[in-house]
Amino acid sequence: MNSFKAIVIKEQQDEVVYGVEQISEEQLSQGEVLVKVAYSSINYKDMLAVQKKGGVIRDYPMIPGIDFSGTVVHTADDRFQEGQEVIVTGFEMGMSHTGGFAEYARVPAEWVVPLPKGLNLKDAMVFGTAGFTAALSIQALEQNGMDPKNDPALLVTGSTGGVGSVALQILSKIGYTNVTALVRKDHQVEVAKSLGATQVIFPNDLGELKKPLNKQKFDYVLDTVGGDVASVLIPQISYGGSMSMCGNAAGLQLTATVLPFILRGINLLGIDSVNVPIEKRGAIWDKMASDWNITQTTLTDEVSLEQVPDTIEAIKNGEHLGRTIVNCQNA
Ligand SMILES: NC(=O)c1ccc[n+]([C@@H]2O[C@H](COP(=O)([O-])OP(=O)(O)OC[C@H]3O[C@@H](n4cnc5c(N)ncnc54)[C@H](OP(=O)(O)O)[C@@H]3O)[C@@H](O)[C@H]2O)c1
Repeated sequence: MNSFKAIVIKEQQDEVVYGVEQISEEQLSQGEVLVKVAYSSINYKDMLAVQKKGGVIRDYPMIPGIDFSGTVVHTADDRFQEGQEVIVTGFEMGMSHTGGFAEYARVPAEWVVPLPKGLNLKDAMVFGTAGFTAALSIQALEQNGMDPKNDPALLVTGSTGGVGSVALQILSKIGYTNVTALVRKDHQVEVAKSLGATQVIFPNDLGELKKPLNKQKFDYVLDTVGGDVASVLIPQISYGGSMSMCGNAAGLQLTATVLPFILRGINLLGIDSVNVPIEKRGAIWDKMASDWNITQTTLTDEVSLEQVPDTIEAIKNGEHLGRTIVNCQNA
């Protein structure tokens, strides 16, 4: 194979620098399956990956990109075939194993999910890691009692971000009609409503974290930000309700007492998308390809590999909306 394009992150003295380079197949991490990448997507973790102390990249140089969709060009594992369309998200990709911001990627066969019927390669990355995480969060809440039949009061935090925007759309599509979106900026109000929110609130509306138990406002919270936002919400979850928690955009520290758990029986549901066992991945992707498929309506931008840094800056500066996919074959 001739050389091809990839984004490469390097450590240079006290800094981390990154940009598009021509590389060869030998520079890809090992694996049984070589894939011509069609699309990758830009996630919060990719923004952290290009920061000096982002805590994502373990070895330099590294190709970032924590997900991709594409076509198998070579496989040493007979569960896959040349020409087959596949998806990979999470595991070590873009951390200690070369990732999806490249024209080609090579990965262990254990990480590979066949593209489900109902999604094309582009749709798969419109969802990407963020959408997969939104789906896992909704699945966890439904497994803990959330059901559109009961018209529960829901709250989605980080609602115009990657995870939140997909979550709002899936919730609206599957029949939830009382969904509040937490936003931080005026221009996000209309965006959140267009994605399916029925009410929109700002952090000031949440009140202060003073009482261990507060007025019961939300039956289920799909939290993507953690920190003080999640902390102030735990005392406001209704009796028997749940909060799913996948992110730390608002901070790592959670402040809570045991009272909402022992007096109201609420549940805190941790969501991890990175190490979900491969046998569970297919079932979630099948749902995203069918009943939960929102790829026709989602808020999505498309960029080339060269344009990735602009989107990463926008995420860093809190100026990004929805999802951005990367067309990895766009010269
Ligand atoms: N557990 C997993 O496997 C997994 C998978 C995917 C993502 N995540 C995590 O989930 C989080 C969200 O990811 P994403 O892809 O949706 O990121 P994103 O697209 O950058 O969106 C982040 C959202 O959080 C909001 N936000 C940031 N700081 C906030 C604060 N202090 N208070 C309230 N809202 C705040 C942002 O609002 P503005 O637009 O106003 O800045 C934005 O809506 C990240 O922490 C990410 O690491 C975890």
